[in-house]
This record gives sequence, C-alpha cells and structure tokens, in this order.
Amino acid sequence: MSIVEKINKLKHQKNAIILTHCYQSIEIDEVSDFVGDSLYLSRVAAKTNADIIVFAGVYFMAQSAKLLSPQKRVFLPNLNSGCLMADMIDVNALRLFKQQHQNIPVVCYINSTAEVKAECDICCTSSNALDIIKSLNTDKVLFVPDTYLGKWVQKSLKNVEVITFNGFCPTHLRIRAEDVENARKKYPKALILAHPECHGEVTKLSDFVGSTKEIMEFALKSKNKQFVIATEKGVVDRLIRDNRLNRQDKEFILINDNIICPNMKHNTLEDIYNVLENETNEILIDNKIADKARLCMDKMLNSI
Ligand code: 13P
Ligand code: SF4
Repeated sequence: MSIVEKINKLKHQKNAIILTHCYQSIEIDEVSDFVGDSLYLSRVAAKTNADIIVFAGVYFMAQSAKLLSPQKRVFLPNLNSGCLMADMIDVNALRLFKQQHQNIPVVCYINSTAEVKAECDICCTSSNALDIIKSLNTDKVLFVPDTYLGKWVQKSLKNVEVITFNGFCPTHLRIRAEDVENARKKYPKALILAHPECHGEVTKLSDFVGSTKEIMEFALKSKNKQFVIATEKGVVDRLIRDNRLNRQDKEFILINDNIICPNMKHNTLEDIYNVLENETNEILIDNKIADKARLCMDKMLNSI
C-alpha cells in the first residue's frame, strides 16, 4: 500500500480530516480534505464533524484549530513547524507593549500563540485585518506581532492610528524592492502580486496586495496571462498546478527562488501517517488560556 493509501485508510477508520495550508509541500494536497489560507482553515476547523484534525501547517495554526474545536483532538505532523513571526512576541513583551500604550484595544494577527491571543481583544488574519480594525470603531489600535501587515492596513485607514509591534516574517522580508524592479524589467507584461507581510517598499511597487487566498483568486479571475508572485513558493506551486488542471495558459513566476518558509516545509507525508497511526504530537492548551484565547478568535469569526 502506498503512503497516500495508508493515510486515507487511517483517516477513514478514525474519522479524521487533514487541513493543509497553501505553504505546505504540494504533495500533501493528495491526502488533504481542505487546502487554503489561515482564515479559511480556521472556519473549517470551527465547523467540522470529524473527531480528529491533522493540521498540516505551523504550530499556531494547529493551536487555533484546537481553540475553535476544543472537543476535537488536533495533531501537528512535525513539532518543529513553528512560525518565526509568532515566536517574536510572548506574554511579557505583549504586557510591556500594552503598558507603553495604555487603554487601547489590541488586535492580534492569527500568527501568534494562544497565550498571546488570551491577552488580546480580537484576532485577525491577513484576509480580514482591515475589516476587523474598522469594526472596533476606535481611533487607535495596537497591532501585534507583524509590523508590516499593521503598516499596510494603516494605509487604508484615515481615522485610526495603528500602533504596531516590531515583529515580522523573515521569509517575506527576503523579498526586496530590487526584486520587484528586476521582475518589472524581465517580465514587463506581468502583474506583480504581493502578500501584506512583505516590506512596505515591496507592497508599494506591486500591482496587487492580498492574503494567500486573495492572491490566488485575483490570479484566477484576471485576464492577464503572466504573474510574478511575491509570497511563499507553495502558492506558486498550487497556481501552476491548478492552471494546468484547468487547461489555462497563465504563467506564474516566484519573485525570488528563496521565498520558502523552512518551518512550513517540515511536515511530510510520513509525519502525517505517524501522527494518525500513533496519535502523537497532540495539541493541548491550558483551559484558562484556551477560554480567553477562544474569545479573541470567536470575536473575529463572529464580526465578519
Ligand atoms: P495567510 O493568512 O494568507 O494564510 O498567511 C499565513 C502566513 O503565515 C503568511 O506568512
Ligand atoms: Fe510564519 Fe512567515 Fe512562515 Fe508565515 S511564512 S508561517 S509568517 S515564518
């Protein structure tokens, strides 16, 4: 039996589903029930009737699935899959940031730990950060941990000051303005699509800025034929595959060969098989923290 067949058999036996983020190695899609960005996968996790969720993504994503589906058992295939940005803020740093800017609501990007979410007012993803901040009807917000997403959202907000923590995504910051300029010269007909975790100089020079899902939808609907993608390689791999499956003739180019999130690539089919078979790497969260962090996530899901 192949590894894919073995995983599918175990999924069936254990009433398990596999949720996969678009930055995962593309072969994981073969065993996945749902593939998408963090907002979409959070919604799936909140609604599923499965008994077990295997989250092929990074730690905070599996933790978020556990928060939203506390009665389910959630497993992360490889425990080395952490998000470097999420690890840039802990509770002590958050408390200090709040002390420096008192009585201001705190919005946390979903790329954060449950402990951090437990001390924030509302969560957001890159798909809904702007709407979430607007929904607060306030003139100031603290935004943690991603300074670039916070600054990107600020550009569309006239009456709200977004005070950002100084976290960032090392993978997206590997994209430089120079890469965009070079891509313009090399592919003059291409549209350049960037994730808001990129540096402001990159988003400023791009044709479209959006979350993983927004980038993929934009490319699918656009009449343009060529696209330079300024986000993680997994997105480009899936765009190329879907283009081939749909018999379209669009071309997708990764802006720079280094845009690979190493932590997202730890999970393998073997790891998925192992956690399903042995039920190891289960995500467990202290109840008190989970209750508070769930409120922060529920507010996001209920407000948009
Ligand atoms: P999305 O919210 O677009 O899925 O992005 C998650 C992420 O980790 C981006 O680096
Ligand atoms: Fe975290 Fe960046 Fe990797 Fe996304 S790409 S999971 S933000 S380190």
